[in-house]
Amino acid sequence: MSLTLSRYLVALGYGTRKEAERIVRQRRVTTAAGAVLRDTDRYEHHDVFMDGAPLDAPPGSVILLHKPVGYVCSLNDRPPMIYELLPANFPKRTPVMAAIGRLDADTSGLLLVTDDGPLNHLLASPKSHVPKRYAMTLAEPLRGDEGDLVASGTLMLKGETTPLLSAEFAATGERSGEITVREGRYHQVRRMMAAIGNHVQALQRVALGPLVLGDLAEGTWRLLDAGEIAALRSEALEHKAIAKAAKS
Ligand code: URA
Repeated sequence: MSLTLSRYLVALGYGTRKEAERIVRQRRVTTAAGAVLRDTDRYEHHDVFMDGAPLDAPPGSVILLHKPVGYVCSLNDRPPMIYELLPANFPKRTPVMAAIGRLDADTSGLLLVTDDGPLNHLLASPKSHVPKRYAMTLAEPLRGDEGDLVASGTLMLKGETTPLLSAEFAATGERSGEITVREGRYHQVRRMMAAIGNHVQALQRVALGPLVLGDLAEGTWRLLDAGEIAALRSEALEHKAIAKAAKS
């Protein structure tokens, strides 16, 4: 690593410059084998331990969190925040660990968190058309025309002037279904179902691009591996290129 150890600890949110320098001076930072690391020593992230515990995830990590209902994604919103479910240093990192896009407080499911700004932008920008799949429970029984209505490419949300991109809907029960959308408009799925005369009672994001929520327990998280991050990035780039080609 090119940063001194104390600067690296600051970037990972372990404290201010002074605090990090003190931590190193106090010989609390070691290799896995227990050799004390000094501030100017060379180090590899995986072989740095603080107070006997490995460091938090390295820069460039992507975390898949199973967000429970009731938690907010933004630091500016009313708590509880998703950061309460993640390592305590995450909001103090530089660059900060931020959610990729948002899920409403009332929505649960797959949420990605990263300090990789370009990846965040690629996935969260309005030009990103990576498919997102949501499972929902509805207040009213399905009528049977939901699939055609959301696929039409003409469905309009209340107060908006641009129609929604075509989406896919599949019934999974009398009052439940799954929808796949390729945009991220405000409260999009709830407003789509309202636009076709129903009401979403419960909503969960179950997939984003190549990633699925699977059986990850609610409120827990896991690190994506390099293969998963590469697949996510390549699917995002592919959808961006398709959307660009369709426009020209
Ligand atoms: N659509 C919604 O209505 N809410 C979400 O959180 C995500 C998609």
